[in-house]
Amino acid sequence: MAAAIIVHGGAWDIPTELHADHLSGCRAAAEAGWELLMRGGTATDAVEAAVRIMEDLPVFDAGRGSHLNADGVVELDAGMMDGKTLMAGAVASVKRVANPISLARHVLQESPHVFLVGEGAERFAQAAGVPLCDPESLIVPRERELWNRRRAEAEPQPPAALFHSEPADTVGAVALDADGNLAVGNSTGGTFYKHPGRVGDTPIIGCGLYADNALGAAACTGWGEQIMKTVLAKTTADHIALLGSARDAAHVAIAYFEHRIGGLGGVICISPSGQIGFAHSTPYLAHAYRSDDMTEVVASLTAD
Ligand code: GLY
Repeated sequence: MAAAIIVHGGAWDIPTELHADHLSGCRAAAEAGWELLMRGGTATDAVEAAVRIMEDLPVFDAGRGSHLNADGVVELDAGMMDGKTLMAGAVASVKRVANPISLARHVLQESPHVFLVGEGAERFAQAAGVPLCDPESLIVPRERELWNRRRAEAEPQPPAALFHSEPADTVGAVALDADGNLAVGNSTGGTFYKHPGRVGDTPIIGCGLYADNALGAAACTGWGEQIMKTVLAKTTADHIALLGSARDAAHVAIAYFEHRIGGLGGVICISPSGQIGFAHSTPYLAHAYRSDDMTEVVASLTAD
């Protein structure tokens, strides 16, 4: 069976001076996931490894380096889904977990529940042996400065302006392993200056992520409220099955997203046979991918 991996590092109007860091971060994540797949790792192993790398890089809005909410605090969301079993795990509004993708995987594997939030999710983390961190360690100077500037603004920008001008660097990965199993994972600090407790699409099964070996797997990035209303990840997976093409499915799903709701975002996906697809309605979608028919990871900021 053909192996494949694709990762994303956000969809927005990424400024030129940040292009290199987005490309290198996505490339490093895809290479780490690919190496695991080549060593016999599962799709869930590859997804977790790739997402953890991007959570640890301060350039992305995930893990350390995430946006601050209106209270000046980082609140993280993440989710993971296994396409073989349809088992899923998600966490939201956690403040003391540096790698929430790993906590989501523990929920997937060890909890009878799918979705844990806030303090309850952190108590589950402690019981599962996932380390809790100092919330201050998740904040980088760039984000503190952005927050200070926003707080001083009389008129906050409307949400659509944020996705054109402000970072929206949610991260995610989709993988297919040698046994033909698909998996997907997503992680984010959410939107800049969000209301405390706000949760977007990223951890929500069907919206920010979906994986089913019988259909395909997809991860979304962009304006979460719009992605939730269009159930974009499941829409993409359904279209992989309908059209028999990951590339066409990504383009059809994003065309619908854009046409129906003025959607701002992007999607990455893999079909059960290992075809890779990606599309975006924003100026850029940071991403990187590799499949069996390629000799190295390709990283790019725009779809074909
Ligand atoms: N897509 C990330 C969010 O809206 O939270």
